[in-house]
Amino acid sequence: MCGIVGYTGFKPATPILLNGLVKLEYRGYDSAGLALAARNGSVQIIKKVGKIHNLISTVKHSKISPNVTSGIGHTRWATHGQPTDINAHPHSGCGNNVAVVHNGIIENYQQLKDQLKAKGHRFKSQTDSEVLAHLLEDELKKYPVEKAVPQALAKIEGTYSVVIIDQSKPDTLIGARSGGGALVVGLGKGENFLASDVSALLAYTREVFYLEDHEMVIVTPQGVTVLNLSNGKTVKKQVAEIAWTAEQAEKGGYPHFMLKEIMEQPTALQDTFTGRLDPSTGKVILEGAFWSSPYLKQFKKITLLGMGTSYYAALVGKFLLEKYLRIQVEVDNASEFRYRNPIVDKKTLVVVISQSGETVDTLTALREAKSKGAKIIAICNVMGSSVTRESEAVLLTRAGPEIGVASTKAFTTQLGAFWLLTLHLAGVRRAMKPAELRKKSHELAKVPLQMESVLKQTKAIEKVAKEYSTYFNFLYLGRGFQYPIALEGALKLKEISYIHAEGYPGGEMKHGPIALIDSKMPVVAIALKSSSTYEKMLNNIEEVKARKGKILAVIEKGDKEARRKANSVLEIPAVAEDISPMLSVLPLQLMAYEIAKLKRREIDQPRNLAKSVTVE
Ligand code: M6R
Repeated sequence: MCGIVGYTGFKPATPILLNGLVKLEYRGYDSAGLALAARNGSVQIIKKVGKIHNLISTVKHSKISPNVTSGIGHTRWATHGQPTDINAHPHSGCGNNVAVVHNGIIENYQQLKDQLKAKGHRFKSQTDSEVLAHLLEDELKKYPVEKAVPQALAKIEGTYSVVIIDQSKPDTLIGARSGGGALVVGLGKGENFLASDVSALLAYTREVFYLEDHEMVIVTPQGVTVLNLSNGKTVKKQVAEIAWTAEQAEKGGYPHFMLKEIMEQPTALQDTFTGRLDPSTGKVILEGAFWSSPYLKQFKKITLLGMGTSYYAALVGKFLLEKYLRIQVEVDNASEFRYRNPIVDKKTLVVVISQSGETVDTLTALREAKSKGAKIIAICNVMGSSVTRESEAVLLTRAGPEIGVASTKAFTTQLGAFWLLTLHLAGVRRAMKPAELRKKSHELAKVPLQMESVLKQTKAIEKVAKEYSTYFNFLYLGRGFQYPIALEGALKLKEISYIHAEGYPGGEMKHGPIALIDSKMPVVAIALKSSSTYEKMLNNIEEVKARKGKILAVIEKGDKEARRKANSVLEIPAVAEDISPMLSVLPLQLMAYEIAKLKRREIDQPRNLAKSVTVE
């Protein structure tokens, strides 16, 4: 979603800001812009609809003093008003003395706009964000920028992550947040940074801290001061060192981030298990007091919450937790949960799943569950994100930065994290015998290598992709542990290739979707011999063939029967049914990728999608 970057220091600001914006491209955006403290009594704003190269070429043709050493930048994902040059951020008021970039939504913007217009303010854009620039313009007539910002923000209802630059103090950037996505402060020597995520900062610094809700930061080249917006008091922040290397955030030689991330899955899963899974004892070692608290023996119900791919990971999580803990597990789409007065209480353990940790539906659902007394565990990939900060305990998926909009390594590491959670809780609650825990840990420890063997089949997958890339509709079928994989496989294909694809439980096919099946409707059937519903899946395959449907089956290596029945197959090694989702999803990710490549789609940034959905 929208991205923010800010710089103040001793170097030319423009290249640093543009480079930061490029690093934030993966979040999804439709326009981009910069505001530079021009030292001639005004703030210079340059903004352009479309990709960042449009902005870069506009910047090249603009007169910018090389002495400009502070500025702010933004990538916008439209919420209020079309993607246009004028609606792009930064926004200024009537004059050009102050500029603002904003992530989030100002809910009372219309009311504020009417009031400001009545006072003589003239608006240029259709955005909610421009209101803040005009409010600031008024406050700056009365107060210095450090005071004008909290005064203006106090008038806003809604969510914001903002950075402001004001001509009266060109070296000072002010950042503030209240919802609206993360804002991270990067610390340098004689220079300091702001950004909506660390990928924009990796080239310059590794020392960072995150702003909490209702905090404001004053950033100058010499230092940073954090204040609580509610009481004006100074807040002491803990500075953290980012472990991710700059190279980790790059494509590493692959044509797309998505392919790189698919191929990184064995390592990512291994990292997620390392130091936590001990096959010799069957024990799971997790950091933090919560993991040994008596509560873990006492809770009565588990609720899993997430969106998109994270929601599908939760569906697999439900199968695992119910199988081994024999406890009631509900899975809910976070956007539904938050609006329906859900039944959760202090005896409910809520597990929130999110790659980014900033998905607004998931975060709001988390808060709803918390307000009802539930204890929250986050399965998350971004430490320091909102979801991790607001949870009792965090099970970090160590997938590293996931840049491609389509989630891949985040998903398989989420499944790995669900295994850690299941085995840990099963140990604590004595739901599994030590021998059984050891056996499962041994099986899990082998998965990274088994993943590698599946990912080596690129040639076979390319061939299948060629064969299937010309169809317009796909049905994905799976049962039990493979039902969520059918959903995830279909989501991958539709997201990046724009081919219509739907996932269904195999048993549902006869209840409607079968009406669609003909020679133009390929069916991707996940039919694994280890599965308790294998025979039922073979029946599904027969039913599809009887209607001239084309079958692409994901099968176990060496399964001659399934191979004979299918038109084409993708193979995975034979593993236990409950472990197989971490493997069966891989050929489906690769096939979606290859088809999207054949169709020349923008794989890493598919149309209309954002990596981190921070507004409803
Ligand atoms: O960051 P999150 O895991 O909370 O994101 C949830 C969904 O927005 C995300 O999984 C989305 O569905 C991806 N595009 C899937 O590939």
